[in-house]
Amino acid sequence: MEFKHLSVMLDECIEGLNLKPNGTYFDGTLGGGGHSLKILEKITPDGFLFATDLDDEAISFATERLSKYKNSFKAVKSNFKNFKSVAESLNVNEIDGAILDLGVSSYQLDNKERGFSYMAKETLLDMRMDGKSSFSAYDVVNSYEEKQLKFILSAYGEERFAGNIARNIVETRKIKPIKTTGELVEICEKSIPNKFKKDGHPAKRTFQAIRIEVNGELTGLDTVLRDIVDKLKSGGRLAVITFHSLEDRIVKTVFKDLSSGCNCDKRFPCVCGKKEVVKEVNKKPITASENELSINSRAKCAKLRIIEKL
Ligand SMILES: C[S@@+](CC[C@H](N)C(=O)[O-])C[C@H]1O[C@@H](n2cnc3c(N)ncnc32)[C@H](O)[C@@H]1O
Repeated sequence: MEFKHLSVMLDECIEGLNLKPNGTYFDGTLGGGGHSLKILEKITPDGFLFATDLDDEAISFATERLSKYKNSFKAVKSNFKNFKSVAESLNVNEIDGAILDLGVSSYQLDNKERGFSYMAKETLLDMRMDGKSSFSAYDVVNSYEEKQLKFILSAYGEERFAGNIARNIVETRKIKPIKTTGELVEICEKSIPNKFKKDGHPAKRTFQAIRIEVNGELTGLDTVLRDIVDKLKSGGRLAVITFHSLEDRIVKTVFKDLSSGCNCDKRFPCVCGKKEVVKEVNKKPITASENELSINSRAKCAKLRIIEKL
């Protein structure tokens, strides 16, 4: 299958990063290499970009796509949460900027084999970004206790019928394991009352929740944002694109915290010693233009937040 992915808010990200021709940059979510390509066009021949992705297919596709820049580019198969150790392994001490375009690529969603899509009926429950990981959607659906299932569906999918779906998953797997995306879709359909089925596809929120759990998408996001900021040079920028409210809330909270100073009672001398480390480049998140939305509906929920190191 062809690797197809339209980069979201490409121009806004490139402008927001304020790229320096000889700078060092990090792209934590390489995907199809769309953002990386634009960065390389601006920073080469003197700059350097290193990138991570969990997905072998993304790494090989993007490495090939960016081969023209091979002297200025290094792709590492790794979780971006290992940013610090990846940077260290490449002898990078400081960076001029970084980008994280969170979640899955269109290629991952559209490739039926990967099991991310509720539209693909007879696909094995998988949803791993890293095909070599031993933990998949099958394990979540077939081994989590009802209470755990209800929790992740509610916390990561904001699914109001999490209880019904969790109960029906447990009932169904008593008879035989739930193996395919189609079986899971059927369970969601029967767990949601008809009058609520107009709030998007009945399996949409469940698939999002299970995908987040399988790939640990929210775990450690807070820490890596701080790790990246730690390594940013003064004036360096971090741009993050999120696709749902849960990840956006984490990014927003960390950015607020890093951009605010002492919060002691102003009537007394400061005892906390907290200082602003960054400034928010955009107070409100940037969203995709009408023009972009007309060609890429996946940009609809995207929010871009950018900070600059002081
Ligand atoms: C939205 S796509 C990025 C697309 C890319 N910016 C482009 O323009 O082509 C997200 C990519 O990040 C990867 N990814 C998601 N979470 C990751 C993580 N924690 N560590 C490394 N890669 C991750 C996914 O495998 C996917 O390829």
